[in-house]
Amino acid sequence: MKLNVIVLAAGKGTRMKSARPKVLHRLAGKPLLLHVLDTARKLECANLQVVIGFGSEAVEQELAGANTRFVLQKEQLGTAHAVKQTLDGLDDEAVALVLYGDVPLIKAETLRALLDGVDADSMGVLTCVVDNPTGLGRIIRNESGQITRIIEERDASESEKAVDEINTGFMAIPVNLLKNWLPRIQADNAQKEYYLTDLVELAIADDIAVVTSQCQDQAEITGINDRVQLAELERKYQKRMNEELMNNGVTLADPSRVDIRGEADIASDVEIDINVILEGKVTIAPHVKIGAGCILKNCCIGEGTELHAYTVIEDAVIGKNCQLGPFARVRPGTEMRDSSKLGNFVEVKKSVIGKGSKVNHLSYIGDSELGEGVNVGAGTITCNYDSINKHKTYIGDGVFIGSNAVLVAPVTLENGAFVAAGSTITKNIETDQLGVGRAKQSNIAGWKRPGKKQ
Ligand code: UD1
Ligand code: CA
Repeated sequence: MKLNVIVLAAGKGTRMKSARPKVLHRLAGKPLLLHVLDTARKLECANLQVVIGFGSEAVEQELAGANTRFVLQKEQLGTAHAVKQTLDGLDDEAVALVLYGDVPLIKAETLRALLDGVDADSMGVLTCVVDNPTGLGRIIRNESGQITRIIEERDASESEKAVDEINTGFMAIPVNLLKNWLPRIQADNAQKEYYLTDLVELAIADDIAVVTSQCQDQAEITGINDRVQLAELERKYQKRMNEELMNNGVTLADPSRVDIRGEADIASDVEIDINVILEGKVTIAPHVKIGAGCILKNCCIGEGTELHAYTVIEDAVIGKNCQLGPFARVRPGTEMRDSSKLGNFVEVKKSVIGKGSKVNHLSYIGDSELGEGVNVGAGTITCNYDSINKHKTYIGDGVFIGSNAVLVAPVTLENGAFVAAGSTITKNIETDQLGVGRAKQSNIAGWKRPGKKQ
């Protein structure tokens, strides 16, 4: 059957104690709601509607690029009332799958298993046996094990409260049945809300089979209500990601101290030390070593490269067999070609570091192009900014720059040029020329040091 997805995301999330809607809080760097939308897309749904209410403008704005239809639920009168808002947008011949914007770790395969049991004459409910069912709807079954209804905690008797199989909230219902049933749901319960869970009894009354599918992993169906649960689920997500990495041949010194906030494509035989954060799209080739405390965002790291401790890289491409850090900072727009090297306290921005070139200590390279085999001495900086404009520095192959040089851009150092230590270079240097730009040293003989005042 054709699939229509409905994501409920109208609730306020009072316990988050936040000005931001709950579904925009982030797990692994991504809004909770976006985790759910990404999973929904894996199911190839014909249409997807998100029910929003509290902070709807903020949700629509932040997820504007997500290509979904937002439906406003002005007042939050219950889960059935929320689903009702989507009826006009549903396809009659489809099955509707209800998801939750604050339950981010549900897996597509679990939803597929739920959908597999559903056809035009049946609806499905995803259940789970949990350690602590307090606050959740309980699954009530008859002697033959058939589900008869779902009872909310507040409406449950003591014996019903003892049931540890709960309603996860995830349901799949043929749209034509949903359209018939929703108007019949009453708010006659302790909370005076329209409960989606009442669908079970309506189905049974209409001789429609209710099939249950049981989820084995509690993390998948756990909703987030406060920041403690958010942090707990973040840990579970990281554990999931890191186990996947290790199973794919990546060595992690301590899987509880590597966080992945985005898509990391990491080859086998990569070694990652502790307290490393990978953000956005990070691609790492085989045999890369990543030292403690490195932070990598949107970058590619070539085979055999070593990132020593506390190297920070953003929006950059690093070639093969490079050496970076400790304490190197690579800023956006940088390309390091194979076998190049950045040492400690070196910052590079929007520059190309040519093959085999070395910038070993305490330097700033910005808006520059370095050729092959360049050697940049300690403390060298490119003066790329004149307070209004940025200018470029070109450094040819085999250039040698002595320590503490200042290269005032725009300036070009041709292949094989040589810069004397301590020079301020404002003029281009031709091939095989030595550029010296400093005051001549003079030594004063017989110099007497100042004496102490009497
Ligand atoms: C619901 C289920 C309960 C289940 C639990 C799992 C009902 C009546 N109960 O209870 O059986 O065990 O989920 O977590 O369905 N929402 C809206 N609009 C509304 C009301 C809710 O969008 O008018 C959204 C909320 O943002 C939230 C979700 O639906 O994401 C669940 O709503 P909530 O009221 O918290 O239901 P629970 O009491 O958790
Ligand atoms: Ca809830």
